[in-house]
Amino acid sequence: MKTIYLVANWKSNKTVEEARSWLSDFSCELREFKTPLPLTVILSVPFTVSAVLQEEIKKLEMPIHLGVQNVSQFQSGAYTGEISAQMLEGLAEYVIIGHSERRKYLNETDEMLLKKVEQAKLSGLKIIYCVENDLMPIPDGVDIIVYESFAVIGSGKPEDPASADLMCRALKEKNGGKPVLYGGSVNKETMKEFCDQPSIDGVIVGGASLKPDQFMQLILAFASYG
Ligand code: PGA
Repeated sequence: MKTIYLVANWKSNKTVEEARSWLSDFSCELREFKTPLPLTVILSVPFTVSAVLQEEIKKLEMPIHLGVQNVSQFQSGAYTGEISAQMLEGLAEYVIIGHSERRKYLNETDEMLLKKVEQAKLSGLKIIYCVENDLMPIPDGVDIIVYESFAVIGSGKPEDPASADLMCRALKEKNGGKPVLYGGSVNKETMKEFCDQPSIDGVIVGGASLKPDQFMQLILAFASYG
């Protein structure tokens, strides 16, 4: 059976207190769930809450992985405000690189993204790399690819799972069979259908990950059919 990934992307949301409270509520939800998680769950959070969440996840022995949503293209040194991959050692296991919102609003180019991937690899971070189609370049060494349908992100209306599967299949074929996830307005109604597609290995969710009970609903939606 293929491994299914469920990646939460909190984007620019949550204070330290809100993040703590999300995790504490989610750990209660998980305790109610009697069987081991049928998914690999990765929580991608802002830098500002990653240290506190890392500690809590360890303390509570939660079966989830921690990621961040960006990394500097520079190694370290005089780059005011940048968070380098080295600084993330021990804080995050995964990093999202190339999210369409960063390409669009922060003008991240393929060249910058390649440097980010190189830095992340040097520090042993696992890379979740996002593209909007199978024509965009994907640097060597990424671990998970995400097909993001930018037009539907945050719209509440996901792409048709079968058509998303075609794009994911093309990405998988061009990238040596690496896991490919779909992102764009996934919710508990559509979660299972996306994950059931032959070339889709999971989903990345923004809006539906912000409340712990709604995020748990995604797991339940998947598990109850699985
Ligand atoms: P959304 O975000 O679930 O809010 O559409 C998805 C994403 O950021 O990939």
